[in-house]
Amino acid sequence: MPKSFDLFFASSNNHKFLEAKNILDAFGIKLSFSKMNLEEIQSNSLKEIALKKARNAYSKCKKPIIVEDDGLFIDSLGGFPGPYSSYVFKTIGNKGILNLLKNNRSAKFISIIVYCDETTIQSFDAKLDGVISKSQKGQGWGYDPIFVPKNSQKTLAEITNKNELSHRYNALKEFSNWYLHKLKSIDQ
Ligand code: IMP
Repeated sequence: MPKSFDLFFASSNNHKFLEAKNILDAFGIKLSFSKMNLEEIQSNSLKEIALKKARNAYSKCKKPIIVEDDGLFIDSLGGFPGPYSSYVFKTIGNKGILNLLKNNRSAKFISIIVYCDETTIQSFDAKLDGVISKSQKGQGWGYDPIFVPKNSQKTLAEITNKNELSHRYNALKEFSNWYLHKLKSIDQ
């Protein structure tokens, strides 16, 4: 097993951290929380937002960190709210999203994970396809009560195995492969 270094998740969102910790535990990577408010630039690109956040977080804590930026992209709304998902959740919320939709309810969640240390910055992205439900179901956070993953009848808020199939899981799986390889090469 490669040597383990301290790895921090920089975010103000407890839910995201707990899910990321649970997912990385399963890959044998220990994750600590560096709770901080990170400045979010306005951009149409989640990746650009995430890279900026990661540089900003690293400059504050000077420890190997990962940050995450997500977006909910709804097909019939031309990908809205996408990079504006956080603002839209705070303003019109799940009820507002449901009021905007008619027949085509296809959507996807995208997660971008960025790792940053003194010499390296690397991003990983993944998606989760699904549909927006007709009403809110379950007690989850964010858009979980209205997002039904492909091949499921239940929302992310209702299922018990979100951390085995989510956009976050898919992006962190890519990250884990890369990170464990990096640790191994440092060890040799
Ligand atoms: P951000 O990455 O914090 O900007 O997240 C964008 C928006 O998507 C926020 O409103 C989050 O609450 C929401 N969000 C991100 N990931 C998830 C998730 O796994 N479930 C539900 N909502 C999420």
